This record gives sequence, C-alpha cells and structure tokens, in this order.
Amino acid sequence: MNRLIVIGAGGHGRVVADAADHPVVFLDDNLNLEGVIGSIHQLEEIKEKGDAVVVGIGNNKKRIEVLQGVDQPATIIHKTAVISNSAIIGEGSVVFANVAVNPYTVIGNGCILNTASTIDHDCILGSGVHISPGAHLGGNVIIGDCSWVGIGASVKHGVTIGKNVMVGAGAAVVSDISDGVTVVGVPAKVQKT
Ligand SMILES: CC(C)(COP(=O)(O)OP(=O)(O)OC[C@H]1O[C@@H](n2cnc3c(N)ncnc32)[C@H](O)[C@@H]1OP(=O)(O)O)[C@@H](O)C(=O)NCCC(=O)NCCS
Repeated sequence: MNRLIVIGAGGHGRVVADAADHPVVFLDDNLNLEGVIGSIHQLEEIKEKGDAVVVGIGNNKKRIEVLQGVDQPATIIHKTAVISNSAIIGEGSVVFANVAVNPYTVIGNGCILNTASTIDHDCILGSGVHISPGAHLGGNVIIGDCSWVGIGASVKHGVTIGKNVMVGAGAAVVSDISDGVTVVGVPAKVQKT
C-alpha cells in the first residue's frame, strides 16, 4: 500500500486512520480539517497507483452510499483485534482496537466494529452495520443492513435484528426486532417506529 486515503476527516475518520497504522491522507468536503487534501468528489484525480481507500464516515447510509463509488475499498483491522480464522470481514469494513470476532461469523461490507465490541460465533451482519464501543453480540445473532447497535448494548444469542434498526445505548435486546425501529432499555422495547 502507498497511502491510505480516508474519506471523511471527522471523529470516526480519525479513529479509522489510527487503526490503519499507515501513512494517511483525508478527503472531506470541509477542506479546513487537518490533513485534508481535497474534497470527496476529487477521489479519482487524487488517487495514485498503490493508494488504498477506505470510507471513514460514521453515518451508516452515507457511508454505504460513498462506498459504492470506491473501487475495491480497503478493510482496516487494528493490530489488537482478534479475528477468528474462520470469520469473514467484508470489503470496506473497519475493526477497531480490542474487538473480538469469533468463529464462522460473517461481517458484511462497510461495517464498523467499534472499540472493544465483541461478536460471538456464527453471527451474520449485513452491509453498513455499526456495532458501537463496548457492545456485545451473542452467538448466532443476525443483523440487517445499516442497523446500529449503540454503545454498551448487548444482544442475546440467536436474536435477529432487522434493517435500519437503532438499538439505544445500554439496551439489552432479548427478542427479535423488526426493520426500521428504535429500541431502548433492559429488556429493549420499541421507542420509535
Ligand atoms: C436511542 C437514541 C437513538 C434515542 O435518541 P433520541 O431519539 O434523540 O432520543 P432522546 O434523547 O430525545 O430521548 C427520548 C427519550 O428516550 C430516552 N432514551 C434515550 N436514549 C435512551 C437509551 N439509550 N436508553 C434508555 N432510554 C433512552 C430519553 O431518556 C427520553 O426519555 P423521556 O421521553 O422519558 O424523557 C439515543 O439516545 C441513543 O441511545 N443513541 C446511541 C448513541 C451511541 O451509542 N453512540 C455511539 C457512538 S460511537
């Protein structure tokens, strides 16, 4: 790899850059942010041979939208993350410090496995899923595209969470959740549909 181009120079993009442990430049529409060498639309003119590209945008839908315009996005895995040999991490996904991903789990494209989250065996995560810091998924959990599990939340083994779901910080999800809702609390209940 020559340089790593991180699209998005906000807080999440900075953590992606740290996780990569590689020379990094940023693209962002806010050209005043530190390390930004051009706007997102300038990717093709700025990209040099050997550069890798990752999308460092926290918003799930926006990240997937931008990722669609990136040819062969990089997958970034922090050196302290422990990933089972039988687990699969999708293109353009980022795995931060002290994450554990256990056997036969499949993580989709453009996902964020945030700091110290754990994903147990045989889980299936769609594209654009965000597992926040310190959140835990038991075994055989399924999560649909663009869902977000908030900081410190837990998901019981075997639970299925739909697409575009928001699981609030600290929630305990003990039963299946349908598409598009926000759930909070212990046990988690629908707060917003
Ligand atoms: C669930 C969440 C999305 C709701 O956000 P919101 O729609 O802006 O909700 P509000 O802050 O207006 O709160 C609405 C009500 O829900 C309650 N509430 C909000 N978040 C809650 C949570 N995580 N657990 C329990 N109750 C919660 C509030 O206390 C409030 O209750 P009230 O109506 O009795 O006063 C948000 O609070 C949350 O938990 N986000 C997770 C963020 C996160 O994990 N970030 C990690 C970044 S890496």
